Amino acid sequence: MIYYKELDLPYADLVQEKTLRYIKEQTKILTEPSSYIWHSLNFEEFIKHVPELFDAAKPLGLIPDMVALFVVHNPENSSMHADTYHHRARINFPILNCSGSSTSFYTNAKLVKVTNKNNSISNLKVVNTEECIQVASVEIKKPVLMRVDEPHKVEVPTGNPLPRITLTVGFTVDPVVLLE
Ligand SMILES: [Fe+2]
Repeated sequence: MIYYKELDLPYADLVQEKTLRYIKEQTKILTEPSSYIWHSLNFEEFIKHVPELFDAAKPLGLIPDMVALFVVHNPENSSMHADTYHHRARINFPILNCSGSSTSFYTNAKLVKVTNKNNSISNLKVVNTEECIQVASVEIKKPVLMRVDEPHKVEVPTGNPLPRITLTVGFTVDPVVLLE
């Protein structure tokens, strides 16, 4: 199975720069660290600040329609899980401090559904992490298309700068077909 694919997309640097500016100017993510990792963003509002996201996705024939930030202030809050939200695959853009960290994929997972009370988004938590077997791992150095419905975990080594932030982007059509 292909778990991820690194992508050479136009405007990726501009998306990174403008997303970081958006975080600094429009959110409290950097000034008020939280244990919440998933930060849903208003798509219409975000895209006004980072319109290049559409241009970046164009070569793949994809149209973005969902954005969120995955923010790790404390690596202990990053747990092994599988996403059930917004299709089977998304594209993650590196935004801040991704160098040296990784997103790893696992098999042999037992999954239990959990729902975040704040945003009502459910995902599947892995309850047997010590039995899981790592099958792939990627450092997010450029946009990466990944199977978010497969068990995965963001790993940040001790001493790596924090917060570690990626922008995760969903599309009108599930891009999982590009991993088949
Ligand atoms: Fe995830």
